[in-house]
Amino acid sequence: MSKKLVFSGVQPTGNLHLGNYLGALKSFVSLQKKMDCLYCVVDLHAITTFQDPKELNLNILETTASFLASGLDAKKSIIFNQSSVSGHAELAWILNCVCRLGWLNRMTQFKDKAGKDKEKASVGLYIYPNLMAADILLYKATHVPVGADQKQHLELSRDIAQKFNNDFKVDNFFPLPEPLIQKNISRIMSLRDGTKKMSKSEDSDYSRINLKDSADEIVKKIKKAKTDTNPITDNIKDYEKRPEAFNLLSIYSDLSEQEIQKTITEFAGKNFSYFKNQLSEKLVETISPIGSNIAKLLNDKKHLEDVLKKGREKANIIAEENLKKIREIVGFV
Ligand code: TYM
Repeated sequence: MSKKLVFSGVQPTGNLHLGNYLGALKSFVSLQKKMDCLYCVVDLHAITTFQDPKELNLNILETTASFLASGLDAKKSIIFNQSSVSGHAELAWILNCVCRLGWLNRMTQFKDKAGKDKEKASVGLYIYPNLMAADILLYKATHVPVGADQKQHLELSRDIAQKFNNDFKVDNFFPLPEPLIQKNISRIMSLRDGTKKMSKSEDSDYSRINLKDSADEIVKKIKKAKTDTNPITDNIKDYEKRPEAFNLLSIYSDLSEQEIQKTITEFAGKNFSYFKNQLSEKLVETISPIGSNIAKLLNDKKHLEDVLKKGREKANIIAEENLKKIREIVGFV
């Protein structure tokens, strides 16, 4: 049995949003109380689509600030950026040689991100899931908190781990990492279209609540959020065809740490403008302190760089120890 170890990553591609917070960061924080955790700013993943170097540099620090502002503690968790530990790239290459082409061809996120003209997508974007497997397996992590959109990548990581163990006849060398996906709300949807996930890349800023939004912006965005003309009812089945209403009610439930049924019972018969006021209040209460903390932390870039440097040193020790064994297993001299 491998020692329990948590690994997860977030891309430094700008403004983190409510989806990142409820789908990932919030669990990162609660897990650090119970287990050893590594949290990584995955800058190698970010460059699979072109990033302006100056913006990337700032976004790495801003993502680090968002980790800390959300409650991660650099004394409890190892916080670092991916490119600073070269083992990620080395293991990714080995895993590129383990993973089968057919497996990658099934990845729906590549199809979504590459769009119609996939010939023009970078090779990095295509083999992105193998780098993700390397991130996790480099530390022999056993648990990976992620939003539901990463489930397929996690399944691929397990397949790659299993094939490595079989190919090289090293039973259980890599543990099969378990995804930890929030049960109640694993995918926060866009505020403009309840069938699409909330995302940084969506054009309209009104589709998402950013962690750095001011209280006024949060209130305005919730006021404008799409709903429907039906009242709030307390029958959960009614929401199967009401994705926008369901999304807002789910966000409220998650922020209040209560089951969705309790929320719909609480608001049954009320109109959406009343509910939206309550939701805005909850959001401002949770998100505004994080936003102001991010701004404060960004005033001291040296501190953020120090956090990453210390994290890098700790991560690198574990990575090098595992890599030594991996190189031996593969047969490198
Ligand atoms: P990224 O940077 O897109 O998102 C970071 C985390 O936020 C979650 N998330 C959401 N959860 C719920 N609702 C949403 N609308 C939403 N949008 C984003 C994501 O599921 C993720 O957990 N490939 C990963 C980063 C990564 C990684 C890893 C994760 C690289 N290596 C190893 C785990 C383990 C990604 O692009 O996440």
